[in-house]
Parts: sequence; C-alpha cells; structure tokens
Amino acid sequence: MNAKSFDSTAGYFPDVCFERPPDIGILLGSGWGEALQMDDVILRLTYSEIPGLGASTVVGHSGEFVLYTRRGRRVAAWCGRRHYYEGAGWEPVVLPVEILRRMGCSTVLLTNASGGINPALRPGDFVIIRDHINTTGLSPFIGEHVPEWGARFPDMTEVYARRLAELMHASANRLGVRAMDGVYAYASGPCYETPAEIRAYKAQGADVVGMSTVPEAVFAKACGIKVAGLSLVTNLAAGISLRPLSHDEVVAAGDAAKAVMRDFIDDFLARL
Ligand code: HPA
Repeated sequence: MNAKSFDSTAGYFPDVCFERPPDIGILLGSGWGEALQMDDVILRLTYSEIPGLGASTVVGHSGEFVLYTRRGRRVAAWCGRRHYYEGAGWEPVVLPVEILRRMGCSTVLLTNASGGINPALRPGDFVIIRDHINTTGLSPFIGEHVPEWGARFPDMTEVYARRLAELMHASANRLGVRAMDGVYAYASGPCYETPAEIRAYKAQGADVVGMSTVPEAVFAKACGIKVAGLSLVTNLAAGISLRPLSHDEVVAAGDAAKAVMRDFIDDFLARL
C-alpha cells in the first residue's frame, strides 16, 4: 500500500474533523445504508470527491462520510465501503480506518451482510463477530512495513474487543433482537461461494461468510483501534439455501431489518 497517498486524503478533510476525536467510527456495509439516526450533522462528504476513495461500485452503498452527533456522542460514519474485489487495491478499502486513526478515534464499529452457515441462523438474525477466518490469503499489510500502523507481525488474538461484543449483546437483549456470537469467514468475492467451499468453512468453524470487514478489522486492530463487528445475516449460504444467491436478496434483507438496525446502533452508542 502507498501510505503517502493518505496524506492527500486526510488533507481533504476540514479541520473540524480533527478538532476532537470521534467517540466512535462506524463503517456501514451492504444493507446497512439507512441504519443511522443523527441529531446534528457537522459535515457530509461524498465518496467520489474524497481523494483516494472513489464511489462504491456496489448497489446499496450510499457513498457518504458523515460527521455527526447523536445523544451526545460524536460519530464519524462511513456510509458504504469499498471492497478489494472492486479492483482498486487496498487503499480505498482501509482508507476509512486510516482516516479514523488520524482523527484520533479509538473505537470502530464494522457492519456487514453475510450468508448464514451455522444451521441455527436465519435471515434477519444478527451475528456479533468474535473472530474471523481469512480464507483469501490476502492482507492489506503485504508490502512495506509502515510503523504508524503497528508491528510488522501484528497480534490477532483478540481482533474484536470482548467489551464491545458484550455491549452489543446487552443491546440485543434489551431490544429482543436475535443475536449470537460467531466466526466470520472472509472470502474475496465477487463470486458467491460454492457449496463445497461453504462445507469447508463450516468444518473450519465459521458461522457466517462475507466479502468484507476482515481487511478493515485487521488494519484497525494492528493500529490499536478497538473493533466491534456486527453482521446481519441476509441469506443462507450457498448449498444451505435452496435458491441461487443474489445481491437483491441481500439488499432486501437489509431493508427489512432497517428499523432494528437503527435501534441496535442507537442502543450500542448509548452504552459506549
Ligand atoms: N456470501 C458472501 N457474501 C455475502 C453473502 C454470502 O452468502 N451474503 C451477504 N454477503
């Protein structure tokens, strides 16, 4: 990765972004587009204008950075993510976390949509990510070591902070939302998995599968940012589902869960 490229990205953000560290950064994945409630909006920026980021090419990702307050919390939200499979390299994928780091933000909530592998999971359930399996062999850290981003060989024993997972459980309990702890398998996409791949991930211990989050999570963890990972199960994974998989199904499941997502994020923010 070209670490220098983030200097011009950061330079594009007005001073107000760096005046005070956000209490939390939020990165919204597929289906999560309308999950935020805002009291006062401090600033909005469109992805396509942010140097090095570019518009998300995925339907359901709005492509806006919003700095706002909600119930006294200062939140830096990235509404939509870039994925490695979009082919623009790692920079746009980790850029949101790098900018949060430069803002002094010490906590990030990463959200995504996933396919359910664990038979207990149904579409509409939430999974509180407790660990992951990177099935790709890819890493944003392959390349020159950048000391600002942590150790050459970053520890990944607890990528997803236990305390934040407990807070999410407390939120789910209060709201009566189905949420279980789970292991997220990261596949590169953009093809959905084959049934044989899903059986292999299941045997390895994965509960859900998706095409995102892990690059941002390892980057944040290495940099010393505490990570919360929250997944909406939008479909049963390949071979478990009796129908072919489609992104329309993912977006529709996100729409159906909109109200719950809003309450979930709001309640979680209040507990921070
Ligand atoms: N596989 C990979 N990514 C996904 C899925 C899936 O089944 N559902 C939502 N994102």
